[in-house]
Amino acid sequence: MTDKYAVLGNPVHHSKSPLIHQSFAKQYSQNMDYSAELIPLNGIEEYLKNLQSLGFMGVNITVPFKEKVWELIDNKSEFAALAGAVNTITIQEDGSLHADNTDGIGLCRDLTHNHGMQLNNKRILLLGAGGAARGVIQPLLEQEPAELIIANRTVSKAQNLVEHFTDFGNISATGFLAVAGEYDIIINATSASLQGQVPPIPATAVTRKTFCYDMMYSNEDTSFVRWAKHQHAFGSIDGLGMLVEQAAEAFRLWRGIKPETQSVIKLLRT
Ligand code: ATR
Repeated sequence: MTDKYAVLGNPVHHSKSPLIHQSFAKQYSQNMDYSAELIPLNGIEEYLKNLQSLGFMGVNITVPFKEKVWELIDNKSEFAALAGAVNTITIQEDGSLHADNTDGIGLCRDLTHNHGMQLNNKRILLLGAGGAARGVIQPLLEQEPAELIIANRTVSKAQNLVEHFTDFGNISATGFLAVAGEYDIIINATSASLQGQVPPIPATAVTRKTFCYDMMYSNEDTSFVRWAKHQHAFGSIDGLGMLVEQAAEAFRLWRGIKPETQSVIKLLRT
C-alpha cells in the first residue's frame, strides 16, 4: 500500500514540498504519495482530528497554520516547543500526533553542509523577530556562535525573543539602525523581501568576508540578496537550500532515511 503524506496550508498550490518529497521517495524507492492540501482558514483543527482516518502517516504544516498547530498539539519535540511553531507532524501508531519543527535544522544544514560555513565562534546577525526568526534561534545557538544579535523593526519583539532564549547562548537585541560592528553571517528572517524591501541596517555590517542569507527564496534574486551582492558580501544566497533541508529532516523523521539533497536543490534551481 502507498503511504500517504501531505503539506497542509492556505494557499498551498505554489508549494514545492510535493516535488521535493517525491524526489526523495524516488531516490530510495519509497512507496509513498505526497500531496498539497488546501485547508480552509478556520479548518485546521478539524482536519488534524481526521489525519489518521484520512490515511496519513505524516504531514507538513505551512503558512498560516504553523503557530495554530503548535497550540493544538501537546506532544512536541524540544525544538518545536521552543520554536512556537510546528512544520512537521508524525501520526503515531495509536493515532496520536507528534509535532516537530525542522526549519532550524534545515537552515543550519544549508549553511554548514551546502555552503561550508562554520557557525561556531562567529558573530551572527539575525534580522526579524517573527515566527520565522523564532523557529531558528535555538538551532543557531546550539552551534555556539560567539554572539547572536537579533535586530528587528519593532525592537520590543526582538527583546522578547532574547528573554525567551537567554539560557541557550550569547544573545542580544537591537533595532536595525543601531546595528553596530561587522558580522560573519547575516540572516534575513524578515518578510521584507516579499515587499521588495531590505531592512535598513548599516552597510558597514557587511564586509567582503560576510555571508548573507535570505530565508526567503525566489526564482530571481530577492531584494536582500541583491543588496548583499551590492555590498560585495562573500556570499549572497536565498533560502531554497533551507527549504530542501527542512524537508529532508522531515523525511528522515518519517522514513528513517536521510535523503541526498544536492540533486534536489539543483532540480529546483532549474
Ligand atoms: P514570519 O512568520 O514570516 O516571521 P511574521 O511573524 O509576520 O512572519 O514576522 C514578519 C517579520 O518581518 C517581523 O520581524 C517584521 O517586523 P515587525 O516585527 O517590526 O513587524 C518583519 N518585517 C516585515 N516587513 C518588513 C519590512 N518591510 N522591513 C523590515 N522588517 C519587516
